[in-house]
Amino acid sequence: KLQAVLFDLDGVIMDTAEFHYIAWKRLAEELGIAIDREFNENLKGISRMESLDTILRHGGKADDYSAEEKRDMAERKNSHYVSLLDRLKPADVYPGIRELLLALREAGIPAVVASASKNAPQILRALELSELFRFVVPPDSVPRGKPAPDLFLRGAEEVGAAPEFCIGIEDAQSGITAIKAAGMTAVGIGSEAMLKAVGADVVLPDTRRLSLEFLRGLLSA
Ligand code: G6P
Ligand code: MG
Repeated sequence: KLQAVLFDLDGVIMDTAEFHYIAWKRLAEELGIAIDREFNENLKGISRMESLDTILRHGGKADDYSAEEKRDMAERKNSHYVSLLDRLKPADVYPGIRELLLALREAGIPAVVASASKNAPQILRALELSELFRFVVPPDSVPRGKPAPDLFLRGAEEVGAAPEFCIGIEDAQSGITAIKAAGMTAVGIGSEAMLKAVGADVVLPDTRRLSLEFLRGLLSA
């Protein structure tokens, strides 16, 4: 029954969600805007430019900068972020993820990355995971980012899977909303209260208990 598994990247495959937070916090400080972890939940899953706009609004500076200045700021955040990726190595993959990907490959079930990040291909290479994914959805190939379902629907379509037989795995509220809007089963990684509130079918505290058997069980229930 299970036809494809679609993975978010940051915060699901490894801890890059934390790197994004550190890099945004640094940029925000340069702009005189304070952000904390609670506010950061709003940034998870959304694109670089949208995140910047959200931070500027939060700081009451939404109209203070030109489009060109904003492009420069987004680039500066990305340099902060990319410098944190330097130390990335295969052992940084979250527990259970590589095993799950190997089991999916063995079973002939495609694994897909559905992330808003333009850094995804580079991160997958550094983690030595590229060949375990059938497809990485290019974020610019769809009109809308999360919470719209576009990235997940595009991924399923590419591998010929019907949404009702797909499972999406996400750590962000915007991502869970996107998976449900795509008509798929949503597995949340992280806070049960936060992710169930937006419709996650099941929430695990971390990736340890993700397995092919567990995922298959969700579709046959
Ligand atoms: C994901 C992350 C966000 C990040 C976005 C864009 O959605 O959850 O935190 O801002 O990707 O990533 P990028 O690497 O393209 O700046
Ligand atoms: Mg994420």
